[in-house]
Amino acid sequence: MRTDTPLTIYRSDYTPPSYLVETVELGFDLDPARTVVANRMTVRRNPDSAQREIELYGEDIELVALRLNGRLLEERDYAINGNLLTIPNAPEEATLEIETVCVPEQNTTLSGLYTSNGNFFTQCEAEGFRRITYFPDRPDVMAKYTVMLRADKERYPVLLSNGNLLEEGELGDGRHYAKWEDPFKKPSYLFALVAARLVCQEETFRLADGRDALLQVWVEEGNLDKTDYAMQSLKNSIRWDEERYGLELDLDRFMIVATSDFNMGAMENKGLNIFNIKFVLANPRVATDIDFQGIEAVVAHEYFHNWTGNRVTCRDWFQLSLKEGLTVFRDQEFTADMIGTSTGRAVTRIDQVHTLRQAQFPEDAGPMAHPVRPDSFVEINNFYTVTVYEKGAEVVRMYQTLLGVEGFRKGMDLYFERHDGQAVTCDDFRQAMADANGRDLTQFERWYDQAGTPQLRFEACYDEGAQTYGITFYQSCPPTPGQPEKKPFHIPVAIGLLDREGNDMPLVIDGEECGTTAVLELTQAEQTFVFSNVKEQPVPSVLRDFSAPVILQHGYSDSDLLHLFSFDADPVNRWEAGQRLAMGRLLKLTGEAPVSSRLSLDDTFIEAMRRMLTDESLDPAFREQALLLPTETMIAEQLDTVDPLAVHMARQFMRANIGARLRSELLAQYEANQTPGPYSPDAQSAGKRALKNLALSYLNAAPDEETIALALRQCQNADNMTDRAASLSALIHARAPQAQAELERFYEEFQGEALVVDKWFAMQAAAPTTDIAKIRELMRHPAFNLRNPNRARSLVATYCMSNPVEFHAPNGSGYLFWAEHVTLLDALNPQVAARLARAMDRWRRYTPALQQHMKTALQQVAGQQRLSNDVREIVTKALAN
Ligand code: TRP
Ligand code: ZN
Repeated sequence: MRTDTPLTIYRSDYTPPSYLVETVELGFDLDPARTVVANRMTVRRNPDSAQREIELYGEDIELVALRLNGRLLEERDYAINGNLLTIPNAPEEATLEIETVCVPEQNTTLSGLYTSNGNFFTQCEAEGFRRITYFPDRPDVMAKYTVMLRADKERYPVLLSNGNLLEEGELGDGRHYAKWEDPFKKPSYLFALVAARLVCQEETFRLADGRDALLQVWVEEGNLDKTDYAMQSLKNSIRWDEERYGLELDLDRFMIVATSDFNMGAMENKGLNIFNIKFVLANPRVATDIDFQGIEAVVAHEYFHNWTGNRVTCRDWFQLSLKEGLTVFRDQEFTADMIGTSTGRAVTRIDQVHTLRQAQFPEDAGPMAHPVRPDSFVEINNFYTVTVYEKGAEVVRMYQTLLGVEGFRKGMDLYFERHDGQAVTCDDFRQAMADANGRDLTQFERWYDQAGTPQLRFEACYDEGAQTYGITFYQSCPPTPGQPEKKPFHIPVAIGLLDREGNDMPLVIDGEECGTTAVLELTQAEQTFVFSNVKEQPVPSVLRDFSAPVILQHGYSDSDLLHLFSFDADPVNRWEAGQRLAMGRLLKLTGEAPVSSRLSLDDTFIEAMRRMLTDESLDPAFREQALLLPTETMIAEQLDTVDPLAVHMARQFMRANIGARLRSELLAQYEANQTPGPYSPDAQSAGKRALKNLALSYLNAAPDEETIALALRQCQNADNMTDRAASLSALIHARAPQAQAELERFYEEFQGEALVVDKWFAMQAAAPTTDIAKIRELMRHPAFNLRNPNRARSLVATYCMSNPVEFHAPNGSGYLFWAEHVTLLDALNPQVAARLARAMDRWRRYTPALQQHMKTALQQVAGQQRLSNDVREIVTKALAN
């Protein structure tokens, strides 16, 4: 905790490390109250650096002894300034021996070495290794590690670290040891150890080159009935990376370890991935379809990092998207390939677009807006964002759209050929893509440089006589903090033209036939393309498959949208047309809601929804997405001044109206999409459950005895968590008299399952029927615990971020609750606190009365004496002009 003004770090200030580290030998005497760490490393002056001092970072550790080439250094031999330890006058080559002490059981930040349920874990990305030992803790310092772990055998029977197990044995006095060696050079952020009482599911798996690898999933005793899906996902991931990218597992052993105390989803430590239990543990009784999907994606993501992140890593943290954007793109493609069908692919793509709109576009338009490759930061942990991850993945996807799947693969091959074993930049990746394909991708750099979501508009003109269709695109990008003006982006726009029957027209541009979907490349602020041989006035389907992360200001008429919603061959744009039909109406309703007591919805819209709901030729998963309304957050993003209550009333009205007017069809779909027989998380079955449960939720948006009975019956008979949770939510939202008893029964039954208890809290926190008094009551529940990030998020963050109408209560009580808990959490875990702090990002867009309350709450946090850099950066940027 620092009280002085935090330092801003700039990308342009990068200098190479003064010394490189060759080998690191770490010795751990593990004790929760006092762990002694011995670090012996060989270092060598970096010929690329002008600097002569050895620079080591250390944080929250006690320095016991420091030796250079065997000589004990005295205090005058080095300087400590904050977290930086410098040793001047060091020789070209040296052996450093450093002894430090840390206190894992008091480490509530979950960064560095900490205990969770009595077990030891580490988390080193981004800058946690310095909380374990003094080290040049920056990703461009790559070294080989050998690790000796010593601990009490009874309490910590399992001792794990990166790479291969060299030897293990007894030490006497009840202690034992294990020695691990990682054959690959790695940056310190990929170091990991686990010392724990755990059990594992294991399997040997034949790799493409014929080697056998040992795969293990480690969990607490009693959870071995929940590891199958993670193991299967790991095997699928290994296979996929071999087949799609020719990338093999490079170790003989690959371990996944689950912990219940974790700041994020999971961590790709070399050979020893550490996971939040949320992304490992699943069986039908406790996990929903969404949970199963999450596990598959995160297991794949961490595994894929082994090449994109570990073998080739980041030169500095500004390059974070080099590994994250690319790895998210890879896990997205994996998920799509796992489903296999083309609508299945589209369904995953729609999920991705949904995430962008729900979270990334708002980030890009708010006070924390930053480029995919940021120019500066105060606290790097604040930059593990949807922009770096999801927009970063969109940027990678655009290479594939521009170069084709094969061209992209060529670029990947060249990237690994050039950079295996190196710490590189986003420019290096772009250069590999360009060189492998003989393309100039200079302008494409702007996707890395410029923050903000580009806005795209088009005007089209059909010339019947000439049979041409001209379409002019205009692109612009709004200012973001520090970037008042933007230059045009290189934007791939996939486009198709629909005829009157709804069929795709063959496309001809400049005399060249381009199938039925053409990828236009926009590079200027204004650009025109002309299609020839166009037999009739078409309806353009623009930005197919969401070919670029932009906002398309469409200008479509209702009848164009209905045409696209009925016929577009591109399922993503078909869905998009439905979202636009709904959004237009939601915005109108939002304007009317505060004044009118009689809202209404036109037949045209209801009929379109009815056709979609009952179109048996379409996958249930797709129909569910097409019937889901834009969220309250998305509606709010379209408004100049947000009245959350009006938005909520408008959306609730629409849901209830659909529920009432499509009642018989919804009931029929509810029955038609049952999934009898044993539960399976596959996409087909999950899609049916999703549509069935959406029907249940619409029916209960206009509840009566029959709809409530339906939900209650499902709640009492469900044999899987997807159906159980969906029906319980429906009862809560319908304010059913039976909801409370069902909530109690749910808790009773699942109180031993931490992840289900999280759901129990989250379900209540997200319900518009839960007010601040109820939240405070839940905080006093014996199962609530602010120290556990999953639990804190399930109640506090869910309330502040997923219950807009209650959070934004006119008296400001939600904001005071926010300020109080950001402050409390900050003293325990700055990373978790800073994420919660971002609930206020968009405060300037609310009504003046709400703004005033929000500002007060922000100032209350900003005025705290002791505040982490993490939270300070967020609230300072929120309050800045
Ligand atoms: N690199 C990890 C991933 O994307 C995430 C990560 C970064 C992380 N920092 C962390 C996880 C801190 C836990 C704690 O997979
Ligand atoms: Zn990642």
